[in-house]
Amino acid sequence: MTQDEMKQQVAEAALKYVEAGTIVGVGTGSTANMFIDALASKKDEIIGAVASSNATADRLAGHGIKVMELNDALNIVDSLSVYIDGADEFDPGRNLTKGGGGALTREKIVAAASDQFICIVDESKQVDYLGAYPLPIEVIPMAQELVAGVAIELGGRPVVREGFITDNGNIIIDVHDLKITDALGVEDHLNKVPGVVTNGVFSHQGANVVLMATPDGVRVI
Ligand code: 5RP
Repeated sequence: MTQDEMKQQVAEAALKYVEAGTIVGVGTGSTANMFIDALASKKDEIIGAVASSNATADRLAGHGIKVMELNDALNIVDSLSVYIDGADEFDPGRNLTKGGGGALTREKIVAAASDQFICIVDESKQVDYLGAYPLPIEVIPMAQELVAGVAIELGGRPVVREGFITDNGNIIIDVHDLKITDALGVEDHLNKVPGVVTNGVFSHQGANVVLMATPDGVRVI
């Protein structure tokens, strides 16, 4: 089974977490895109969807799925029923690294506004601890060097993502060579640095459930 076939399988498995009459939070990336394509079959059952990026909003709209602003959605419901998104890595505590696609801030906001985060991945994303995948940090441009210095203090190697501006108008610093054994601590430490919008450790907003595709089927973790 190819990686794309595994992503397809797990994207379809996530559909069972989508309940009729609810507003669904939708992530960003290739696995989330496959989920969006599958969600089209339920578009008349749900009130609408909140997107975690402009790219996701465009894809949802392309399928005729109603795209709602988060603030409008939260004037109708207390919280979104579910947030469904991929990840770059997940550890045994269901802490995640996200932001490979640069949408980490909106992803974290929509996840925080949702009752449950269902993370959809293939088995290549499973790790013992986070850090092999470079940790993205969204940064207000004038704080680039300040934040890079903190990343070096943590033992990392910061690299500015060339030619990339987030949907919020900021830059991304990818921090290589970290070994993150205290995901919550690293998330909090980086988020306290002035100029950091957010970082790609999702520990406060970790997954409630990880659906992991394997060649033998989807495992629920
Ligand atoms: C985007 C993300 C994605 O969820 C992450 O990069 C995984 O993407 P893919 O499903 O393409 O492997 O965090 O910001």
